[in-house]
Amino acid sequence: MPLQRHEALRALSRDHHVALQLARAIQSKGDPRLRAELPADGQQLAAHVQRVFSRELAAHFEVEDSVLAPMVAGQDTALDRIVSEIESEHAEMMELAAGLAGASSSPEALEQRLDRLGAMLESHVRREEREYYERIQEVLDEAALDHLGEVLQRHLDVKSPSEL
Ligand SMILES: [Fe+2]
Ligand SMILES: [Fe+2]
Repeated sequence: MPLQRHEALRALSRDHHVALQLARAIQSKGDPRLRAELPADGQQLAAHVQRVFSRELAAHFEVEDSVLAPMVAGQDTALDRIVSEIESEHAEMMELAAGLAGASSSPEALEQRLDRLGAMLESHVRREEREYYERIQEVLDEAALDHLGEVLQRHLDVKSPSEL
């Protein structure tokens, strides 16, 4: 997916693959083959999507908000603007995911919410790859990127056992 992703950001970019698969599975105009792999029952589907959010994407969002954002902040106005929008999208998506169970008794309400969440997740990830991570690579020099990579790796190593 990424064109030329720097080593420092590759682990986070790999998470984007999981996020995109989910985003395309849950949208009504997404990928039917991916959708077929998810539970057909509404309540189980809602629970599954919530689980992926809380077990995998929450940790990714947390690293982006608490580790990546502070390390790239204050160096470039375009980057700062993207960071603040990215952070509010994380919060909005977590809220949408948390509300899925409440909508799962009505198939229409659940589909609407899944569509909204899937569309938001897809455009979020694509924007991060095309604008955010690209801009980080343009603004930070090689030494800063290497340092960023080391710090990110330490955080990702600590997080990985709990994601199982
Ligand atoms: Fe993100
Ligand atoms: Fe991301």
